[in-house]
Amino acid sequence: MRAVQIVELTGPDTALALSEVPDPSSPPEHPLSPGSGVLVEVHAAGVSFPELLQTRGQYQMKPPLPFVPGSEVGGVVLSAPAGAAVKPGDRVAAFCALGAFAETAVAPAFFTFALSEQLDFAQGAALILNYHTAYFALALRGRLQPGETVLVHGAAGGVGTASLQVARALGARTIAVVSSEEKRRVAEQAGADEVVMLGERWKDEVLERSGGGVDVVLDPVGGDRFTDSLRSLGEDGRLIVVGFTGGSIPEVKVNRLLLRNISVVGAGWGAYVMGKPELNVQIGEAISKMVDDGYISPPIGGRFPFERAADALKMLDERRATGKLVLDVRPD
Ligand SMILES: NC(=O)c1ccc[n+]([C@@H]2O[C@H](COP(=O)([O-])OP(=O)(O)OC[C@H]3O[C@@H](n4cnc5c(N)ncnc54)[C@H](OP(=O)(O)O)[C@@H]3O)[C@@H](O)[C@H]2O)c1
Repeated sequence: MRAVQIVELTGPDTALALSEVPDPSSPPEHPLSPGSGVLVEVHAAGVSFPELLQTRGQYQMKPPLPFVPGSEVGGVVLSAPAGAAVKPGDRVAAFCALGAFAETAVAPAFFTFALSEQLDFAQGAALILNYHTAYFALALRGRLQPGETVLVHGAAGGVGTASLQVARALGARTIAVVSSEEKRRVAEQAGADEVVMLGERWKDEVLERSGGGVDVVLDPVGGDRFTDSLRSLGEDGRLIVVGFTGGSIPEVKVNRLLLRNISVVGAGWGAYVMGKPELNVQIGEAISKMVDDGYISPPIGGRFPFERAADALKMLDERRATGKLVLDVRPD
C-alpha cells in the first residue's frame, strides 16, 4: 500500500517520503490491543502537532526510522475483531496513534467509533485527538460546570476550536483568544461567545468581559502568556495545561496559587486514557451525543493530497493553520 513515512528527523521540509510499504498483518493487530485490531480503509488522515514534532524527533513517542506517522483517520471498517462495537462497512473515526498516513490503518477496537452521518470523513479524522482531549481536559480534569466561563487560548487551532465546541456543549460560556482577524472569524464560526485579540491588553479585556476573572483557562500554547493566564482566573479558577505550541514551557511561582486560591491542572489525554478502554468508550459516547445534538462540527482548515503532507505540517509550523488539517487519502 502507499504511505507517507518519516525517513529522517530533519523537519517537515525533508523528513517525509511517499513510499510503498507492506499491508498491515493479517489478522490485524494493534500494539495497544495485542492480538487484535480494527482494519480501516483510510479516506482521510488527521494532521496534528505531534506529527510536526515527530519530523524533528521532538515528540515523546520516538519509533525507529522509517515509520508511518499519523494518529487518526476517518474511513470504512474492512475487518473488526469479535466483540467490537463496529463491523465491516461501517463509517468510523479511529485513533491508531501511528500509521494513519497510509491507505489502510489498524486501530484498537476501543479507539474506533461509529461516525455520525452528519460528519464527513475529514471531520471524522478531526474528531478523536482534539475532541476527546477537549472533553478530557474540560470535563474530567478541569471539572467544568454549566454556567462557568472558559478562556480558550489558540482558539482557532485544532484543540482550540474543539474546546470551544465542547465547552459550549457542557453549558459554559467561552472567551476565545486569537492572534489575527482570520483566526477571529474561525473562532466565531466555531461558536465562541466572545473573541479577544492577543496583544498587550488581552488579559485586561478578559477580566472586563468575565466580570473579574474566568473559571477555567484551557491552554494549548504555554509560553510567555502563562502568568497573565493565571491573572485572568477568578477565585477557585483552574488553568488546564494542554500543550506548548508557543515554544517554551512556563514555570509557576506557587505563591500565586496560594494567594489567589487557584489551581494549575495538567491534562495529558493520551497517557491517561491508553490503558482504560471503558473510559474511551465513555468519552466517545459523550462526544457522539454532542455531535447528534448539533454542538460539534469540526472545522477543516485545509485538505491536502498525500503528496503534499509536508505542506500541511509546514502550515502548522508557521502558525498559519486553522481548525483541523487533513490528508485526503481517498478523496470523496
Ligand atoms: N495534552 C494533550 O493530551 C494534547 C492532545 C492533543 C494536542 N495537544 C497539544 O496541543 C497543542 C495544540 O495543538 P493543535 O492541534 O491545536 O495545534 P494548532 O491547530 O496548530 O493550534 C495551535 C495554536 O497555538 C497558537 N500558537 C502560539 N504560538 C505558536 C507558534 N509559535 N506556532 C504555532 N502555533 C502557535 C496559535 O494560535 P494563535 O496564533 O491564535 O496564538 C495556534 O492556532 C499542541 O502542543 C499539541 O501537541 C495536547
